[in-house]
Amino acid sequence: MRELLIIGIGAGHVDHVTVQAVKALRRLDVVFVVEKAGDTQDLVIVREEILAAHVPDGGFRTVRMQDPPRGRGPAAVAAWRAARAAQWAALLEHELAEDEVGGFLVWGDPSLYDSTIDVVRAIEGRVAFTWSVLAGISAPHALTAAHRITLNRVGGAVQVTTGRRLAAEGLPEGVGDVVVMLDPDCAFTALAGVEIYWGAYLGTRDELLVRGPLPEVAEEVVRVRAAARERKGWMFDTYLLRR
Ligand SMILES: C[S@@+](CC[C@H](N)C(=O)[O-])C[C@H]1O[C@@H](n2cnc3c(N)ncnc32)[C@H](O)[C@@H]1O
Repeated sequence: MRELLIIGIGAGHVDHVTVQAVKALRRLDVVFVVEKAGDTQDLVIVREEILAAHVPDGGFRTVRMQDPPRGRGPAAVAAWRAARAAQWAALLEHELAEDEVGGFLVWGDPSLYDSTIDVVRAIEGRVAFTWSVLAGISAPHALTAAHRITLNRVGGAVQVTTGRRLAAEGLPEGVGDVVVMLDPDCAFTALAGVEIYWGAYLGTRDELLVRGPLPEVAEEVVRVRAAARERKGWMFDTYLLRR
């Protein structure tokens, strides 16, 4: 039976890859790569470095797929999901032999702000295959390690959210610690009375860290972030807000 592995590869460092993931990478006959419009070349290079470091003898084929265009609104998103599922099912059927192992290398952990698991679940039953998910070091964990802090405080709750939600809804009630991802607009600039622990390119040689009270350090984060974005051409940042 075909086997599919969804492998978390960590947040950007070759050494983030777990031993379990290395063993999985070495079993792959096919690496499936989803290419999206506007993909950042640096992230493609990290994936290649991970494979070169942990599977030096190669021996796998790479099958690339172009992600279908995604429109806005529920109908467009539903159409995009259906198109993706059809595309993935066809590739699985035609590019992976019945006795082979295929894999998706997912940034960070596959369970956090990533659609790979949902798409694979959607094609169950269309093609015969077994599948499993291998955990990876996610950006929030790379962030807390880099700042040498805990994610939660004793017995406290943590919420993970997006910059868009934070901007629209503000800090959620009753939660002391909030992790914010996917925030190109710096929603933290509207906040006061909380500590921010900010990190960009976590785990990589370009890692940047700023911490301190808001609004005092907001300007510094915005400045450091803008300069890095300009220099590298892209930005990946995550932050923890602590009341
Ligand atoms: C589509 S989500 C993927 C999250 C990923 N599955 C994980 O477990 O971290 C992309 C967002 O993750 C965060 N992110 C991923 N890698 C990061 C890194 N190395 N440094 C800072 N933030 C990162 C950023 O907020 C980015 O906008």
